[in-house]
Amino acid sequence: MHILMTGGTGFIGRAFVKHAIKEGHTITILSREKRDSSDSIEFVRNLDEIDSKCQIDAIINLAGAPLGEKRWSESYKNELTESRLGITEILIKFCKRLSKRPAVILSASAIGYYGSRGDDVLTEVSSAGTNFSSKLCRDWEALSSQMLSPDTRLCSLRFGVVFGRSGGALRQLSQSFRFKVGTQIGTGNQWMSWVHLEDAVRAMIFLLNQKHLTGVFNVTSPNPVKVSELGAAIARRLPVYFHLRIPEKLIEGMLGEMATELLLASQRVIPDALSKAGFDFTYPELDAALKRELVES
Ligand SMILES: NC(=O)c1ccc[n+]([C@@H]2O[C@H](COP(=O)([O-])OP(=O)(O)OC[C@H]3O[C@@H](n4cnc5c(N)ncnc54)[C@H](OP(=O)(O)O)[C@@H]3O)[C@@H](O)[C@H]2O)c1
Repeated sequence: MHILMTGGTGFIGRAFVKHAIKEGHTITILSREKRDSSDSIEFVRNLDEIDSKCQIDAIINLAGAPLGEKRWSESYKNELTESRLGITEILIKFCKRLSKRPAVILSASAIGYYGSRGDDVLTEVSSAGTNFSSKLCRDWEALSSQMLSPDTRLCSLRFGVVFGRSGGALRQLSQSFRFKVGTQIGTGNQWMSWVHLEDAVRAMIFLLNQKHLTGVFNVTSPNPVKVSELGAAIARRLPVYFHLRIPEKLIEGMLGEMATELLLASQRVIPDALSKAGFDFTYPELDAALKRELVES
């Protein structure tokens, strides 16, 4: 397949590209930076560089400013939104000018769609939340749906918190444990829906290949955990001398809405659509995923 990607240089994108190249796919990546192309990866800075007659079999849309890196000021919230909706609009225009539309589009979203929902078990048909990240995901998914056509199926990927050693949340969450201090944000009663990076990539490949699949897919492991269980599981791999609990009020005071929506939100999401489609997780359980990422090299 010839796959056009945005966000192909990011945490999930890099892992996908590595896997896809091994499977013989060729990749074109739209990136803001000028980068050197190779035999199997071509970088473009503008989609005008791609001829309308070019055969693009699939588009994967992952680009967006990082949600977990800093406090969400009003201007940063605009950047979070614009970076996602702006690139999606560029892809919509691009699809319209292609002589032959791609057969499939995978477009990222997030479990932030559901908002914070206590102990409720959330599947793809659960309702959306009302906070900033829920609205961002709803708007992103709605805009992406404009790329649907009789020739193109669309899979919206509601990623959970992706765990891998090369970046993302696990690296941040486990950092203090490496200095023998276990940290827990808030009461620890909030649910975290995680997924191993390898499974996130395998789910993407699965959705590209299963030609009958379309719609929304939670890309989360089948076993979400409470944040207190996550801390205990990391501590089993990286033993600590003492535990530190960061009170909700303190973290909210430091990081504002970002803390409320990303670190303190409770999201017990299960991958109902992927499971029904027959997708097998390599890392369904947290302990094996942590062993792989924190201990094994
Ligand atoms: N990682 C997770 O746990 C997780 C969870 C839920 C949802 N997601 C969503 O899945 C997507 C991929 O995640 P990721 O962790 O791989 O993201 P990432 O590492 O932060 O990378 C995303 C890519 O977006 C582009 N980008 C960054 N800032 C941008 C900006 N201001 N304007 C336009 N483009 C920008 C960059 O590509 P260039 O520099 O090449 O332009 C970057 O490589 C993201 O949209 C993210 O919100 C991720």
